[in-house]
Amino acid sequence: KHPKIVVIGSINMDLVTETPRVPALGETVLGSRFSTLPGGKGANQAVACARLGAEVRMVGCVGDDSFGRELMNNLQQEGVCVDDVEPVTDVATGIASIVVENGDNSIIVVPGANHAVTVDKVRQAEAAIREADAILLQLEIPLEAVAEAVHIASRHHVPVIVNPAPATKLPDDVLQKITILTPNEYELGILLDKHSEEVAAFKEIMAEYPGTIVMTKGEDGAYYSADEKSVAHQPGCKVEVVDTTGAGDTFNAALAVMIGRDYPLADAVRYAVAASALSVTKFGAQGGMPSHGQVEAFLQQRSE
Ligand code: RIB
Ligand code: NA
Repeated sequence: KHPKIVVIGSINMDLVTETPRVPALGETVLGSRFSTLPGGKGANQAVACARLGAEVRMVGCVGDDSFGRELMNNLQQEGVCVDDVEPVTDVATGIASIVVENGDNSIIVVPGANHAVTVDKVRQAEAAIREADAILLQLEIPLEAVAEAVHIASRHHVPVIVNPAPATKLPDDVLQKITILTPNEYELGILLDKHSEEVAAFKEIMAEYPGTIVMTKGEDGAYYSADEKSVAHQPGCKVEVVDTTGAGDTFNAALAVMIGRDYPLADAVRYAVAASALSVTKFGAQGGMPSHGQVEAFLQQRSE
């Protein structure tokens, strides 16, 4: 099945600097390489969904500039429908300034045109949302737009997955309507005003939360609510890490595709952990995003 996924979110150009060491404030160091690569959590998730076999529609905004055009082309080349991606004037395409040291990164996002994703724009996509098998959201567009998408999806009983990144608190009425929330440990703490370093704390939080929480934990895989009182763990896969940028995006996309295919949560999480492990073995947010066949082969090989 080719599930229909609507991704509502950010589209950025990633300006990536690789360096042996991140400079301290006031310091200058020599970097080793600079690259301009398509990114943005929304676009990354849309591309990952498409590679995994979904029929994807992206809702978002770029600027009327060369980055914007490049990013639209990239989405189209990946087979993502961009009928709801609007080039807006007077504001530049979003960018992310990324510094990669030893496979790990720090990121500054300048949202630019991503702020033009309004409640109205989301409403215009209501028909597509209604027909989707799953909706996928992140927090690099205005919160009102995210909230509207959650309300629309919930009204039409379409599963809605929210990747609460970058970390922001969400209003209660929105939290209540999310089908699956996918924070990392840090984001979970912010979201629910708690420190969640320990699985014990996570269990308490989950018991209070009406939806499902899938908490990603980097190379340690993911923890998820198996039922009201118990937390299941899907261990991570050992791979050679080149660049972790986009690993979370691949995870979320894979989860959405499997939920869209009506798989049980445990299978979806296992698949998502494998997909995101594959994604970190290549450079760039979208560089290592696997196809459905690659994920299946990887899972097969691991179970032998
Ligand atoms: O999740 C990774 C993404 O976050 C990057 O592509 C960058 O654009 C930032 O939005
Ligand atoms: Na990567």
